Amino acid sequence: MNINFREIDKRLTELKIKDKDLESRKIWESVLDERTIVTLFKLLKRGLISSVGGPISTGKEANLFHGYGEDDKEIAIKIYRIETGDFRDMYKYIIGDPRFEKVKKSRDGLIYLWTKKEHKNLKRAFENGVRVPKPIAFMNNILLMEFIGNNEKPAPKIKDIELSETELEKSFRKIIDYMRTLYQDAKLVHADLSEYNILYYKGPVLIDMGQSVLNSHFNAIKFLRRDIKNITRFFNDSGLKSPDEEELLKIIIGE
Ligand SMILES: Nc1ncnc2c1ncn2[C@@H]1O[C@H](COP(=O)(O)OP(=O)(O)O)[C@@H](O)[C@H]1O
Ligand SMILES: [Mg+2]
Repeated sequence: MNINFREIDKRLTELKIKDKDLESRKIWESVLDERTIVTLFKLLKRGLISSVGGPISTGKEANLFHGYGEDDKEIAIKIYRIETGDFRDMYKYIIGDPRFEKVKKSRDGLIYLWTKKEHKNLKRAFENGVRVPKPIAFMNNILLMEFIGNNEKPAPKIKDIELSETELEKSFRKIIDYMRTLYQDAKLVHADLSEYNILYYKGPVLIDMGQSVLNSHFNAIKFLRRDIKNITRFFNDSGLKSPDEEELLKIIIGE
């Protein structure tokens, strides 16, 4: 589907997109296929979005935008790209999850399922007390969630800030604690945990849970080991002496 610039501009106005400099317009253009436009309109009509703002991030599969939701609260809008998203890895994290036994084979079906899966995972994590963005709603390829940050400024990733020794130690303990709660109470393994998927906003906040799997998944322990490895590597590199990885595994799974 080709949409020209005038058309895009019209759409952006209709969608109440405020930030229309050339750079953000290009990023919006990259996610606005017809279906995504329709979905955004529906979310606007339902009042779940009141206006849409500038881009926060462009990833392999999804783009993140700032926005305002109900009661003009700040929200994060995650849009999985239907046409140009890289979805080859998604199967690995869907197969083996009894919640999503019926895997749709079409590209859009898979992406819609993925969006729903991320919403479900965030909800489980949130309800069990793990600090993650509170999920608000999902529809097709769009996920709305709590915005981590304030005044349209997203919180930094943990890798991009300077933490004191005490803060480092506290953050490490919090993250291991979250991993334990995820595993034992929410019955989930994050499966893409690293300094890239942890924001820092008055403490660590875990994000990006589309790939998270149930702890009964046949690869759950393998994914958990990889998460632990990433976390200990990051904290060791930051100057903290973290415990043995096998020791941590036992703490997290409760043996
Ligand atoms: N709820 C949120 N609030 C603020 N910023 C966010 C939020 N979720 C994600 N981000 C920002 O967007 C980036 C990409 O989001 P993420 O969910 O990790 O998607 P990707 O699959 O592209 O890695 C994050 O690294 C973070 O900087
Ligand atoms: Mg990420």
